Amino acid sequence: MYKIFDTVNEASLYTAQRLLNQVQSNPCANLGLATGSTMEPVYHRLVECLQSDPVDISQLTTFNLDEYIGLDAEHAQSYRYYMHQYVFSKLNIPKEKVNLPDGMAADVEGACQAYSEAIRAAGGLDLQLLGIGSNGHIGFNEPYTCFSSRTHVIELSEQTRLDNGRFFVDKREVPTRAITMGIRDILEAKEIVLLATGMKKATVMAELFHSGVDEALPASALKQHPNVTIVLDREAAAFLPGEIVDWVAG
Ligand code: F6R
Repeated sequence: MYKIFDTVNEASLYTAQRLLNQVQSNPCANLGLATGSTMEPVYHRLVECLQSDPVDISQLTTFNLDEYIGLDAEHAQSYRYYMHQYVFSKLNIPKEKVNLPDGMAADVEGACQAYSEAIRAAGGLDLQLLGIGSNGHIGFNEPYTCFSSRTHVIELSEQTRLDNGRFFVDKREVPTRAITMGIRDILEAKEIVLLATGMKKATVMAELFHSGVDEALPASALKQHPNVTIVLDREAAAFLPGEIVDWVAG
């Protein structure tokens, strides 16, 4: 299902509300969370809503999608730092219920395996939030990642390092490797919400719309899932066929 909104604000608010609905209907939910600039307004709205209309979130469990290898929690570009800044410092989710891949683990392969096992041991993800890379990655599952993958180490593509260079003072500082939840882990979520906003995502969203299920475009794996909502603003939807845009409007 596509949901297309006029503005990034409306698309972000809708996405925040989907998270909120999940939390309200299931206070013990396991949420799969994403980072990146697309999610900043979502978390902003989510925090705003939860602060003005508090819900008990002490039973929630969160699993983040990915983390750079080699950046510790104090590094301003680590995803642990991002999550603390935008979400965890503002909401009362117990520390022990917050999970992120450990990009500093001595045994990184063991940490990957343990991460997928922890998701399954928790009962699986109730809702997975996703952004999308300009090359179609979800999490950090780069093109040609096997669709049956579990949490694993990934060599970041040049495109991703280039795109994410905007967050670093020197683009050469962008790590070359990351840990990402696997596509299979993502597809096992009961519900998936993918948010893409802005013109920079228009081409990949059109590619995704027209693509079959193809490992060259990781997000196309979502076409195998029965409960996916793709949330776009007008810009990200700019190259979708007109009838689709009208059909799904907001
Ligand atoms: C981040 C993640 C990535 C981003 C994607 C888009 O946790 O999983 O897939 O969602 O790279 O990033 P932005 O939103 O910065 O364009």
